Amino acid sequence: MRYRIAVLPGDGIGPEVTTEAVNVLRTVADRFGHDFEFHDALIGGAAIDATGVPLPPATLYACSGADAILLGAVGGPKWDDPAARVRPEQGLLGLRKRLELFANLRPVKPSPLLSNASPLKPEILQDVDLVVVRELTGGLYFGEQRREAITNGERATDTCTYTTGEIERVVRIAATTARTRRGKLTSVDKANVLETSRLWRQVTTRVVSEEFPDVELEHVLVDACAMMLITEPSRFDVVVTENLFGDILTDEAAVLAGSIGVLPSASLGSRQSSALLPIGLYEPIHGSAPAIAGRQVANPIGAILSAALLLRHSLGLEAEADAVETAISATLEEGIRTADIATNGAAASTAQVGAGVVRHLQSVRIPVTVWRGGPA
Ligand code: IPM
Ligand code: MG
Repeated sequence: MRYRIAVLPGDGIGPEVTTEAVNVLRTVADRFGHDFEFHDALIGGAAIDATGVPLPPATLYACSGADAILLGAVGGPKWDDPAARVRPEQGLLGLRKRLELFANLRPVKPSPLLSNASPLKPEILQDVDLVVVRELTGGLYFGEQRREAITNGERATDTCTYTTGEIERVVRIAATTARTRRGKLTSVDKANVLETSRLWRQVTTRVVSEEFPDVELEHVLVDACAMMLITEPSRFDVVVTENLFGDILTDEAAVLAGSIGVLPSASLGSRQSSALLPIGLYEPIHGSAPAIAGRQVANPIGAILSAALLLRHSLGLEAEADAVETAISATLEEGIRTADIATNGAAASTAQVGAGVVRHLQSVRIPVTVWRGGPA
């Protein structure tokens, strides 16, 4: 089967880490006999420089026709002028919105190989295996924004809006995810203060009790959740929350994994890929890290794990995704690590880590597929 993958390297360390993820996907195609067609496109600051806009029509076109999109990162000081009319981040937000990628899955399962890299005690990290499902196309990110002059300065306004439908659809994805795991769902809000949170809580309670009676639901306020993520992270299975809370909590959760450089994400909507699975946008959760860009020191594991999620969620290639994850562990075990997670001795470069993963994939045993009848 032929799959089309749009590749959007973006800015800063985006191109470096994306190169490694694409190398890994090429190796998977080669080893497992798939046909992946890659289409490179511009986004973010790179797109502003080349075309004047952060999400050019050609990029939208490449993404709309793809089964999955692999993205690096967007943003950087070059485009950071607060008065600028166009910003790199608009490219990413625009893409999420245009493709209606409303559910952002951010799995956090710290590797025991990296427990040294986290500032938390190993006993706190034990048994941590959680997924944050972050609502991605609503809330403050997409509400009306305004500035107006007042006496003594200006007034700035951001608005937070959620509809019943927007909450229902992301809660369904989260509850479905919980069903395939330990069956526990934590909904995070600020219902003691915000009206959107009260609607969120009401809708979540109804959807879970009517459609997912087998899923255990709890509600936790966002401030308490921020604390529990550090004090008792293993209590969480699936966490569902609105856009901005999810953005903040997942950077916090990255501390559990040892480095923000190792966390992947999958953004899914309701449009289907050729494998009849959701078309998704896959990106590491880290940013463009301009301070270290172009120096081959960025950790490519978040991007490579994002490629594994792409194989699993949009292409349905579970064994291939597992093989990539195993190859990453084997590489870490050999001590081939970038500076953010290196233990002793010299740190490896971005490309060396990528090459390590590719080498392990090349020696993986391919399971023999047995045809069991039915349509070929
Ligand atoms: C993320 C990033 C983005 C976000 C930025 C780059 C707009 O922080 O994906 O978490 O806030 O969603
Ligand atoms: Mg973020």
